Amino acid sequence: MKKNVLVITGSPRAGGNSDLLADAFIEGAQSAGHIVMKWKAAEKNVGGCHACETCFSTGKACSFDDDFNELAPLLAKADVLVLATPVYWFSFPAQIKAAIDKLYSFYIGQRPLKIKESLLLTCAEMDDMSVFEGVKYTYEHIVNFLQWSDRGCLAVPAVQKVGDVIATTALHKARALGNEL
Ligand SMILES: Cc1cc2nc3c(=O)[nH]c(=O)nc-3n(C[C@H](O)[C@H](O)[C@H](O)COP(=O)(O)O)c2cc1C
Repeated sequence: MKKNVLVITGSPRAGGNSDLLADAFIEGAQSAGHIVMKWKAAEKNVGGCHACETCFSTGKACSFDDDFNELAPLLAKADVLVLATPVYWFSFPAQIKAAIDKLYSFYIGQRPLKIKESLLLTCAEMDDMSVFEGVKYTYEHIVNFLQWSDRGCLAVPAVQKVGDVIATTALHKARALGNEL
């Protein structure tokens, strides 16, 4: 079955490690016939959620009318959501976290998402899998709360400079995850 796949990236580095993971995943998903949209949170302007709880009441997902309102229709039509992000301070970079926070609008606005499946592609400089605990914890709780099915979590340690991920087996794994969707 052809799926609408939305990939949200978190790094400001074009061609960086998580961006390459995202592209490898996308290549795999497209070769399996899926329709993929890539949305680069770090190139957008999404502010923090104001908790005004007026979501969708003005006709827009977010009343503060930032770039989340461009993301909202993509979220609404997605069957699969992929978060592709580096670890920043043991957590998500602010730009992608702001977009994640505003998923709240679909909850408050009572517009259930049709997303059923999700994946996490992530990377970090430290050569220690515990560095991913924060990002994985948040991802897994969101998946459980929204009753999505986790289709994979690829965490790549020990990559720092742009392109370090190329010397690992991770791009191959990301491509396979996309292809298996
Ligand atoms: C602001 C900032 C915070 C970071 N925090 C961490 C961290 O807590 N742990 C870690 O291992 N790497 C940390 N890193 C390194 C990145 O996770 C690492 O370089 C990663 O490969 C970057 O991914 P990218 O190429 O997709 O941007 C940090 C980098 C930046 C710029």
